[in-house]
Amino acid sequence: MLTPNSLGSIVVVSTGMTLGAHLTPRCRSYLEHADIIFGSNPALVEQWISEINPNYHSLQGLYAEGKHRQITYREMVDTMLAAVREGKKVVGAFYGHAGVFAWAPHRVIKEASAEGYSAHMEAGVSAEDCLYADLNIDPGRVGCQHFETSQLMMYQRRIDPSAYLILWQVGLAGDTTIKRFSTGEAYRQILVDILSEYYPPDHQVALYECPFTALDDVRIDWLALKDLPRADISPITTLVVPPSEKMVKNQQILDRLAELDLQSQQL
Ligand SMILES: C[S@@+](CC[C@H](N)C(=O)[O-])C[C@H]1O[C@@H](n2cnc3c(N)ncnc32)[C@H](O)[C@@H]1O
Repeated sequence: MLTPNSLGSIVVVSTGMTLGAHLTPRCRSYLEHADIIFGSNPALVEQWISEINPNYHSLQGLYAEGKHRQITYREMVDTMLAAVREGKKVVGAFYGHAGVFAWAPHRVIKEASAEGYSAHMEAGVSAEDCLYADLNIDPGRVGCQHFETSQLMMYQRRIDPSAYLILWQVGLAGDTTIKRFSTGEAYRQILVDILSEYYPPDHQVALYECPFTALDDVRIDWLALKDLPRADISPITTLVVPPSEKMVKNQQILDRLAELDLQSQQL
């Protein structure tokens, strides 16, 4: 059995979406007290973290057009783990919620823990949280499905058109190379063909981008599903598809529940 290694450690902190506004006191404290911080964040956020702790090292330079992203993610994990093995108090700082649609933050915790080091993640505010607030959506009202866009396209998934559908990384729709930063119109047309099995072509969908600074505006652009291929989509765009159908009651289950209620009243 592994015993906790008393020297090195890693905490993966979430820096939130909007600069300075979303960092929890716990995350801030870990940043302040780290021996070394590695992170992947928007440029302004990187600058701001460097002011909290000058020993910040950006991992953004590991990305490159034409380089398989899995290699980049592996390098991120190896960089953070090397510092942990040197006995340092390491912090990994990732924007939004560090564990939402992000491989390296989960992986580094898994591997550091397996080697006996103290390792955990601190939760934060993700694009999803901002989306619920900015679009006035309660995911509990009719349910809400989240998919990585390319995964939805490449696997046989079931969409429920009576719930919200949120598609992440829509700018990378259909990328089989895992080496590009964007695909394009022809790829998004295939996405629209898939979604058209569930939604009418004029169904209104939203392109959502929450601001990274208090000076930026939120982007909420409504358009017809059929116009999605030609829309202006960036790496930070999230696609929001509201329900197109009403929920249908499950009468068989309602009858069984009514029967149970009747029995409990008779006891
Ligand atoms: C690799 S994921 C990272 C998500 C991040 N960890 C979070 O907690 O939101 C990148 C995707 O998150 C979404 N995203 C990132 N920044 C966003 C923003 N400012 N507004 C809306 N969605 C955003 C987009 O779907 C983008 O393709």
